[in-house]
Amino acid sequence: MSAASGRLALLLSGRGSNLGAFLRAQAAGELQGSVEVVISNRPEAAGLKIAQDAGIATAVVDHTQYETREAFDEVLAQKIDGFKPDVVVLAGFMRILTATFVDRFRGQLINIHPSLLPKYRGLNTHQRALDAGEREGGATVHFVTADLDEGPGILQTPVPIVPGDTAASLASRVLPFEHKLYPHAANLLLTGQVSLKAQGAVWGDEILPPGGRLWRPNSC
Ligand code: GAR
Repeated sequence: MSAASGRLALLLSGRGSNLGAFLRAQAAGELQGSVEVVISNRPEAAGLKIAQDAGIATAVVDHTQYETREAFDEVLAQKIDGFKPDVVVLAGFMRILTATFVDRFRGQLINIHPSLLPKYRGLNTHQRALDAGEREGGATVHFVTADLDEGPGILQTPVPIVPGDTAASLASRVLPFEHKLYPHAANLLLTGQVSLKAQGAVWGDEILPPGGRLWRPNSC
């Protein structure tokens, strides 16, 4: 796969292992674009250091400095716009975004969620999957819409649950799958193969199911 010139802005709140996966894909020529900026709502987010070490521009929009969600989102949106991204990647960005923000980046804004959506939206996904006796967990990349974790799915990958799994062990087994899934899903937008239409996420002539298309990496 040859590198293309799409521009990505990546938003995070913490560790940044998915950012690391994008940077590895980019270095390997497997990302159809480049990460232009990493923005965090938390000044102490470890992901900022990963970006700085890779020579990528960083910015902090600290949500505690804003009185309203609207005010925070407006500054965040302006910051993003300054980098003119084609795709805005939420990678562990733990803030609920307003409808105004989401509409501004409609069709360009994607998120990764650690469950097989539409199951287990929200928090504590792995524990809830275990409590429900599920046989598999997984992760989903989806378009972001105004309703939390309800935007149309693009791609999802299942991960088997094994006897004795805890939320922590399942999370650590799902994570490497996230790292393969997310850059691959972003490529589908960067190359124009998948887009957001009124009917949902569309891949060629196919309207994708709510959780997106099932996908398994060759190796993990
Ligand atoms: C990832 O597991 C991601 O799926 C999850 O946060 C983690 C971020 O890890 N996102 C959500 O739960 C969003 N609702 P990272 O900072 O190491 O990429």
